[in-house]
Amino acid sequence: MAYPKVTIVGAGNVGATAAELLVLKGIADVVLCDVVEGLPQGKALDMMHMRSIEKFGPTITGTNDYADTAGSDVVVITAGVARKPGMTREDLIDVNSKIMKDVIGQAKDASPEAVFICVTNPLDVMTYLAFKEAGLPKQRLMGMGGVLDSARYAYAIAEATGAPIDSIDAYAVGAHGAAMVTLPRFSTVDGRPLPEVLTSEQIEATTERTVNGGAEVVALLKTGSAFYAPGSSIARMVSAIVGDTHEVMSVCAYLEGEYGIEDAYMCVPVKLGRGGVEEIVEFDLDDAERAALQDSAASIIKQVEGLGLR
Ligand code: NAI
Ligand code: 2OP
Repeated sequence: MAYPKVTIVGAGNVGATAAELLVLKGIADVVLCDVVEGLPQGKALDMMHMRSIEKFGPTITGTNDYADTAGSDVVVITAGVARKPGMTREDLIDVNSKIMKDVIGQAKDASPEAVFICVTNPLDVMTYLAFKEAGLPKQRLMGMGGVLDSARYAYAIAEATGAPIDSIDAYAVGAHGAAMVTLPRFSTVDGRPLPEVLTSEQIEATTERTVNGGAEVVALLKTGSAFYAPGSSIARMVSAIVGDTHEVMSVCAYLEGEYGIEDAYMCVPVKLGRGGVEEIVEFDLDDAERAALQDSAASIIKQVEGLGLR
């Protein structure tokens, strides 16, 4: 069976976890690419050793050479430094800007027709930087942040309500950071909007738990940031793209007037398919929700302007 080809640049915690899920779930052949010699090759070989146990079909290879990534259907960029306790995602901006500039051009030259998913933090700013550097159509360049934040929101709602995780549909949008926006009215338990299920104090607490989810993990791990849920979020997006499922999820996409936001990358509900971003889905937000989203965008735009990109 022929599988789609997915390159993951950055064979660290997040990249390797996403790679493992993509092969285990039979979604794609994976090429892991990293600057560190031996690291992607070693992780790929280790995962190939699992194959006779787990009986998965796709293959995984490791490389330090972009030639091996040529013709990928999807390229995921997880190359970069992760935060440590006490750091915000924004503290990574200088070092990760250099890495993103190094990676995006080489990855695009090897796979000019691919759909690109940026993961490196600070997510919204790095995705905008990649867009400017690569000159790709907006549909084919996006970022992963909202799927993870929505998953953390679903977890917080499950903890607060005791409801099974499968009965929850949750939306977190906006910046992948402190300016994140949860959408309780559009988040449901068994189809019932959150305000019908929880008190406003409880809703506020679930939002706080969601926004602090990444920092909570960092504080516990002490040596880096989350990677299991991020890897899973990447696999979910890749699966929707290569499977052309047209699923709607929170994705960091380029906005040109949607939700009243111009020239910014930020997480909003997006329909994903083989061409990448098929549609930005505009929820019928009330004035307060719309204002919160626009404030969130303003915080991203400030950082993008600080880098001289806008
Ligand atoms: P990690 O340190 O485990 O892995 C990063 C990998 O990138 C390393 O293997 C390193 O050698 C590689 N790398 C560095 N420079 C490179 C270059 N120029 N070319 C190719 N590879 C290069 O870090 P981890 O935990 O995997 O996180 C990666 C990034 O993803 C971080 O910036 C982190 O903040 C971000 N992240 C974003 C999330 C999101 O929701 N958007 C969630 C979790 C992490
Ligand atoms: C997270 O949210 C660090 O962005 C990463 O866990």
